Amino acid sequence: MILITGASGHLGSSTIDFLLKKVPANNIRALVRSEEKGAGLKAKGVDIAIGDYFNHESLLAAMKGIDTLLLVSSSSITGRHEQHANVIRAAKEAGVKHIVYSSVLKSSADSKFTAGIDHAKTEEDIKASGITYSIMGNTLYCDFLPMLLGNFKETGTVYYSAGKAKVNFTLRNDMAEANAVVLSNPSSHQNKVYNITSASAYSFSDISGMLSEIVKQPVNYIEISLEDLNNGMLQHGLPADVAEMMTSIAAAIKAGEFDYADDTLEKLIGHKPLDLKDFLTAVYS
Ligand SMILES: NC(=O)c1ccc[n+]([C@@H]2O[C@H](COP(=O)([O-])OP(=O)(O)OC[C@H]3O[C@@H](n4cnc5c(N)ncnc54)[C@H](OP(=O)(O)O)[C@@H]3O)[C@@H](O)[C@H]2O)c1
Repeated sequence: MILITGASGHLGSSTIDFLLKKVPANNIRALVRSEEKGAGLKAKGVDIAIGDYFNHESLLAAMKGIDTLLLVSSSSITGRHEQHANVIRAAKEAGVKHIVYSSVLKSSADSKFTAGIDHAKTEEDIKASGITYSIMGNTLYCDFLPMLLGNFKETGTVYYSAGKAKVNFTLRNDMAEANAVVLSNPSSHQNKVYNITSASAYSFSDISGMLSEIVKQPVNYIEISLEDLNNGMLQHGLPADVAEMMTSIAAAIKAGEFDYADDTLEKLIGHKPLDLKDFLTAVYS
């Protein structure tokens, strides 16, 4: 039996859709925070457990009879590592045999990306638990990029703080497919740390060049300081902690933390992950 957490979210629900092509629905349980959030999954024949990363009893109940767990990292900004530690503790108590964790590319305690530090701590906890694991080191989602590009169609300019660094953006659904591959055959992926990326990393100048071709008008990239980026988000009404987290992503990109590409994801899913240019073409043409 496989438990998917974060099953109401994008990555968790997409992972379940890929998994349903590989294992019977009654071998899958989905952790969601309310009945309503589980309704769509229940209709697909998936077993539903109601629980919260903060609620130990609910986690223990959800993990009863579970062999393999997909821990989807929490979307909250504060208390993320504590939430993950709770899930790992419950998995240990419940006798879960294998944990697949949606982490970040090359997580590090020294990361400029604030969430990257939580991911590094979580990976340490998983390794210390004695449970076998597969760490999915996901790079940034393509799906997330339009949020960073702003209204370039109107201004002809992408304002961002990535310097000249390259960054690998990869489609979330390709990552979900890789999760399903690993979850359906965990013994082939024991104690592996995978770098989950598409084939190429691009600078924001490269990305602006792609956008120019796609929208058939000049698009330039202008670098702004991290401080200006942060202030701009605050002026647009983003809460301070969200702005800080978003700025930390830019700082990590600028430091080259997402400048990486290999064929691990392609090998896992058996086809080429979507390239960023094809993603941008689908969004903007
Ligand atoms: N690589 C990237 O570019 C990137 C970008 C964004 C996020 N991420 C990370 O990747 C994760 C998955 O991405 P996603 O797109 O699927 O995010 P998402 O759509 O926001 O889904 C997050 C899931 O986590 C669940 N969750 C949050 N707090 C919880 C708690 N205390 N207890 C139980 N469940 C909880 C949410 O449940 P509810 O539906 O009840 O809220 C939701 O199902 C995110 O949570 C985040 O950690 C990565």
